[in-house]
Order: sequence, then C-alpha cells, then structure tokens
Amino acid sequence: MAIPQADHSPQKVREFAFSDEDFNALRGLVKEHTGIHLTDQKRELVYGRISRRLRALDLHSFRDYREVLSQSDGQELVEFCNAITTNLTAFFRESHHFEYIREQILVPRMADPHASRRLRIWCAGCSSGEEPYSLAMTIRETLGDAVSRWDIRILATDLDSDVLAKGDRGVYGADRVRDMNPGRLSRFFQPTTLNGNPAYAVTPDLRELITFKQLNLMNPFPMKGPLDVIFCRNVVIYFDKDTQRDLFARMARLQQPGAALLLGHSESLFKVSTDYTLIGKTIYRRA
Ligand SMILES: C[S@@+](CC[C@H](N)C(=O)[O-])C[C@H]1O[C@@H](n2cnc3c(N)ncnc32)[C@H](O)[C@@H]1O
Repeated sequence: MAIPQADHSPQKVREFAFSDEDFNALRGLVKEHTGIHLTDQKRELVYGRISRRLRALDLHSFRDYREVLSQSDGQELVEFCNAITTNLTAFFRESHHFEYIREQILVPRMADPHASRRLRIWCAGCSSGEEPYSLAMTIRETLGDAVSRWDIRILATDLDSDVLAKGDRGVYGADRVRDMNPGRLSRFFQPTTLNGNPAYAVTPDLRELITFKQLNLMNPFPMKGPLDVIFCRNVVIYFDKDTQRDLFARMARLQQPGAALLLGHSESLFKVSTDYTLIGKTIYRRA
C-alpha cells in the first residue's frame, strides 16, 4: 500500500510528493510525445490524473513514477499519455459541421451526375468515436440507398488507445445517446448492455464506413490523400502555435484546393496557416 507523504509546498498536504522538478519533467515528456503544451495552471490536473497511475502501480512518489517511465518498454508511456489527454466529445457535437457536410458536399454532389462519388474523410483526434459515427449517420441519412454507388471511407484516428478501443467497439452507455433523436436512435443503434448497464451498439452499416487507427499527430502521416474533408476539432487547442503551424502545413499537403478543414469552436488558423480560407464558422477551405 502507498505510504502517504506530505508535499513540500506550503499550502498543500498531498498524498504524494509533487515537486516543480516532477511537474516540469512530466510536462516536458507530454510535449515531446503528444504535442500538448501544459501551462502552469495544469499542475493540479497533472497531479490528479497521474496520482491514479501511482496508485495503480503501487508507487510512493512522482520521482518513482518518472523512474518507471524512463525504464519501461514504452507501455507506461502509453498509459501516461492516455491519462493526460482530454477526451471530451459527444454525438453531433458542433452540429453545424454535419449540416455543412450534408448541404455543401453531399447534396450538391448527388445533384450533379458528373461530381465525384469518392469521398475520403479523416477525423483526426476522434476520441471515443462519437464524431466519426455522427458523420457516418449524416452520410447514410443523406445518401440513402445511393450510398452503395459511392466510394466512401472515414478514417478515425487518435493517440489515446483507450478511447480508440471504445470507438472501435461502438457500444455506448445510455447516457451518451440520451439527446439523440428517437428516429436516429432506432435506425442506427441496437440495445445491448455494457458492464451490466443498458447501452447501445452502433449498427454494422455505420461501422463499415469507418476505420479506427492509432495515430499520433506529432508523427509523420501514413496516408497519402487527397482528403476531401479533415475534422480536427478540439485537438489543437492544447498545442502551441509552432506545433499547430507544422500540423496544418502537413494537413494542407493532403488536401487539394476546395477541400474542407473543420476546427473546434475555440480554434482558428489565424497566424497559423495561410493554406486555408475561412468560409464559415470554424469551416476552412483549402486555397
Ligand atoms: C477533446 S477530444 C476531441 C474529440 C472530437 N474531435 C470532438 O471534437 O468531439 C481531443 C482528442 O485529441 C486527442 N489528441 C490529443 N493529442 C493528440 C495527438 N498528438 N495525436 C492524436 N490525437 C491527439 C486526444 O486523445 C483526444 O481524444
């Protein structure tokens, strides 16, 4: 059992000692491996989330934990990154983006017999899958039976292996679909259980449009493009500007003029990229 130790900081008595050196070493590792820039204000967040790892590993201090991180085969580094990432998401979050896909991409292409029926979409930082499944629902609802004459792939990637496994499984607790309209719920979900609780499993016709893959956005991209749409929403908010510049320059290389890039509600390409033009609320077009 962990022996409680007092932190040296004057205000706090903590379960585990957590020095400036610990915080700085851990946030350096976070930056190096995820691109996430942790400000001084995130100190309590790091303490809270990583304390759980100390308990799980039966360690007594952050210094010991840093030792484990430096010695392990990389497995604890995965757990460490999973613990630090913020995975908040929801079905049809920022719903105007799904309306944009329907009204500005799918409907015009359906109406034009010469338009391409090939669609490649990347959800970068997809968390537990609600975003790509919302997209798959939008596509199925809009195209109906015509979907079989289209060639559509959604690539859903995240750094965090835990949330990615949830997305891949496609089973959501009842609370996650509480706000979904009943028509959608019965059309795209089958009642099931999750850990003995009521839950809903996505139908195979949604699942088959999506490929889930682990991908750290700091690493070179394995895909070649071209990508019609990139969702990169509520991910770069945690990156510093230089990291954002590099990321969007690499994304721009995967897109042709006219392709779309969708960001989260508090994100922008202002002073970050000139490869895209703002055409709507957090909607950018590749120039
Ligand atoms: C707040 S969630 C956003 C989920 C979804 N895009 C949405 O807007 O609802 C941010 C996601 O970005 C992922 N992420 C953070 N840094 C990443 C990186 N370097 N590479 C890939 N994914 C990353 C996190 O694991 C997390 O699941």
